[in-house]
Amino acid sequence: MYIDILTLFPDMFDGPFTESILKRAQEKNLITIRRHDIRRYATDKHHTVDDTPYGGGGGMVMMPGPLVAAVDDVRGADAASVILLTPQGRVFTQQVAQELAQHPRLILVCGRYEGVDERVRQSVITDEISIGDYVLTGGELAAMVVVDAIARLIPGVLGARWGAEEDSHAMGLLEYPHYTRPPVFRDMPVPDVLLSGDHGAVDVWRRREAIRRTWQRRPDLLLTADLSESERWFLADLAENDAPMSG
Ligand code: 6GU
Repeated sequence: MYIDILTLFPDMFDGPFTESILKRAQEKNLITIRRHDIRRYATDKHHTVDDTPYGGGGGMVMMPGPLVAAVDDVRGADAASVILLTPQGRVFTQQVAQELAQHPRLILVCGRYEGVDERVRQSVITDEISIGDYVLTGGELAAMVVVDAIARLIPGVLGARWGAEEDSHAMGLLEYPHYTRPPVFRDMPVPDVLLSGDHGAVDVWRRREAIRRTWQRRPDLLLTADLSESERWFLADLAENDAPMSG
């Protein structure tokens, strides 16, 4: 998969893209990430990329010229989704990550200042994404989140035994509790079933604990979760005896 990122701050991406799993994914050529400095497409001698808004008011707006020139140059003749990172976009979820992971090529445009000139949207943007209902100083951190969530869905990026299929949210549930050695820590034992060697019983326990945790913390997710008949009974029992956490 090819991802081009258009930004005024390409160096911001150093940490997340040059360490750990994203680093290895690029070394294995499973994903190619290129960063492009929008300022290089400015045409005046001061390399101006933003200006005051028509109509007055505070703040600065990203000019359409450099941004559209950057998209045109990076996109070339290929078709590609051109995604603007903005708090006005559709909200990024695991489902959106799965959808975008199917694309062979993505161009991510990081907005800064108060926003981008509306004609950038009209001419080159095909999709807009927000990572949640809060305001960041720019689209860069959001782009890092989006790239990370997409990259780990590409086959081979996570280890073979570490697929993304059973992820929290991919299943529509939060994850069950995890334990490793020691068997007793500060008087807290690991649940017996996990030491039993009975893989069937472990699977049932994990599914139920995932349902319990989802009920307690994110009951909204259960509206769309895919539960078996016996799991629905388990949930009904929880609902009768165990109030979800408030807040
Ligand atoms: Cl994509 N950009 C900015 N500036 N703020 C955000 C965001 C994006 N998503 C949530 N908040």
